[in-house]
Amino acid sequence: MRVLVSGGAGFVGSHTVVQLVAEGHHVLVVDSFVNAKPSVVARIEALTGQPLDVRAFDLTDRDRTERLFAEESIDAVIHFAGFKAVGESVERPVDYYENNLGTTLSLLRAMEKHGVTTLVFSSSATVYGADAPVPMREELPTSATNPYGWTKVMQEQIFRDAAVADPALRIALLRYFNPVGAHPSGTMGEDPAGIPNNLMPFIAQVAVGRREKLGIFGGDYPTVDGTGVRDYIHVEDLAAGHIAALHRLTQADEPISVWNLGTGQGTSVLQLLRAFERACGRELPYEILPRRAGDIAESYADPTRANAELGWRATRTIDDMCVDTWRWQSQNPHGYPDA
Ligand code: WQD
Repeated sequence: MRVLVSGGAGFVGSHTVVQLVAEGHHVLVVDSFVNAKPSVVARIEALTGQPLDVRAFDLTDRDRTERLFAEESIDAVIHFAGFKAVGESVERPVDYYENNLGTTLSLLRAMEKHGVTTLVFSSSATVYGADAPVPMREELPTSATNPYGWTKVMQEQIFRDAAVADPALRIALLRYFNPVGAHPSGTMGEDPAGIPNNLMPFIAQVAVGRREKLGIFGGDYPTVDGTGVRDYIHVEDLAAGHIAALHRLTQADEPISVWNLGTGQGTSVLQLLRAFERACGRELPYEILPRRAGDIAESYADPTRANAELGWRATRTIDDMCVDTWRWQSQNPHGYPDA
């Protein structure tokens, strides 16, 4: 298929692009590079062994987006592009609503005008809100506790309403749990700008000497060891889940499908830290800090619907995730090159 991948230079997007090309699809990446470095493209091309068609522009530009669909025959869209930092969304809500909703509306308009009906959306377990019972199931109601989460809830609603207006649409809402890990080659991985918000890249930067020690946000949660429990999923499993969803949509008879992409296993902060110490071969310093506002004690998926309907299952273990992350981080201590 000819697949437009928005945000294809990002963490999950780049790993999905490599797998799409390996499976024989023709990939067209659109990325504004506001949150990704251009040097990712060379890493993708080194892994695929072929040039990557990349268009660098902002998908909130409706005319540019529509022109692309007019010039290129596109069979399907995988929509990763979006701002995704919870804390930043609280400080810059209007930027988050304008960007995350704007890209989605721009894509839907161009798709409608050019008869493209297949789209896989990068949603998030954050749409289950603060009080969801674990393991989380797709039927749960959605809500949010921050503007980033609301943009995901609202984008899901936009896709649902668009599908009512045009039942020919085939849209997959993929709710990721906690994406971590890196390509096993060590040449691609997560490279957050500034101080990492998320746990795994922060631990990796402690291990490589960029950060002094890990601050653990809360040691008094009602969990196995008092620290927060999450469903960490390897980015390679996540990429495979997108491709499985893309194939499933070509046979789907429902306009909207919702799938959790998680392992179904919960892992605590301390358990992840111990796994990373095994991967890097040394103890890592940490201190217990007060809880982070907005955090919940436990979040992990019920992935049975994705397992059954997509013929997909996460296979990489927590140790795989840490070993692959450590290979990436130790080979790229400062992430991707700037140039
Ligand atoms: C994981 C655990 C923290 C950092 C967020 C978004 C979610 C998705 C994934 C985009 C928690 C603890 C973390 C640190 C810590 N993003 N922690 N010290 O909050 O589960 O999910 O990222 O889709 O939408 O909400 O991920 O990695 O920030 O935290 O102790 O320096 O690690 O308290 O228990 P989270 P996280």
